[in-house]
Amino acid sequence: MLTVSNVDLYYGAAQALRGVSLSAKKGEITCVLGRNGVGKTSLMRAIVGQQGIRRGEIALDGTNLKSEAPYRRARRGIGFVPQGREVFPLLTVKENLQTGFAPLKRADRNIPEHVYELFPVLKSMLGRRGGDLSGGQQQQLAIGRALVTRPNLLVLDEPTEGIQPSIIKDIGRAIRFLKEEAGIAVLLVEQYLDFCRELADKVYIMDRGQIVFEGVGADLDDPEVRKHLTV
Ligand SMILES: Nc1ncnc2c1ncn2[C@@H]1O[C@H](COP(=O)(O)OP(=O)(O)OP(=O)(O)O)[C@@H](O)[C@H]1O
Ligand SMILES: [Mg+2]
Repeated sequence: MLTVSNVDLYYGAAQALRGVSLSAKKGEITCVLGRNGVGKTSLMRAIVGQQGIRRGEIALDGTNLKSEAPYRRARRGIGFVPQGREVFPLLTVKENLQTGFAPLKRADRNIPEHVYELFPVLKSMLGRRGGDLSGGQQQQLAIGRALVTRPNLLVLDEPTEGIQPSIIKDIGRAIRFLKEEAGIAVLLVEQYLDFCRELADKVYIMDRGQIVFEGVGADLDDPEVRKHLTV
């Protein structure tokens, strides 16, 4: 359903993505792995429309997204959980969730019950300011906010970064629910190998702006494959 073909992306004269191609299907978890600075976030920002590309194509269900602004991609059902979470610190938890209403028709502007079922802590902290939550709670809020937009493709950029193990488990459970129960396409950037190994249907490894390996979760057990990930 999401297809990325031969994408080149530049920051000024510096090329950050070189001929990147991948796809992410409904009901599957697609994982993108790679060391620091290899272009994972650049690729996700290109997919959601926050960063322009020089060459190549990004399409959702066959529609080329090239000239579509991020808000239009959100309306098409692309949800984004950015690296570093980007929770609004002065808004309450409830208000943060309500920012997810933006791409929805008026009649759909409610918070789906499964957001609170997946992350009960959000329900108990609705009146608290986003900036006063712990890192793990903020990550759950960022995922919840993206789910409010009713995505059919959810892009998550390093959701386990700096998060304690118990919350990583909750996030893993949520991602599996989205795949199995909600049937959406999940595109997950990770550096935490075991997390990917457990969840991924499909795995891509990036190095220096390129895809250098494509396979399945179990391939991550292969030392030759892991070489792409060790410093
Ligand atoms: N806004 C920007 N302007 C200029 N260069 C940038 C910009 N954003 C990223 N870069 C550069 O592009 C390259 C890829 O960065 P990117 O953030 O996509 O990597 P990443 O794989 O997400 O890294 P990390 O694992 O640390 O999050 C890096 O060399 C980075 O310095
Ligand atoms: Mg990144």
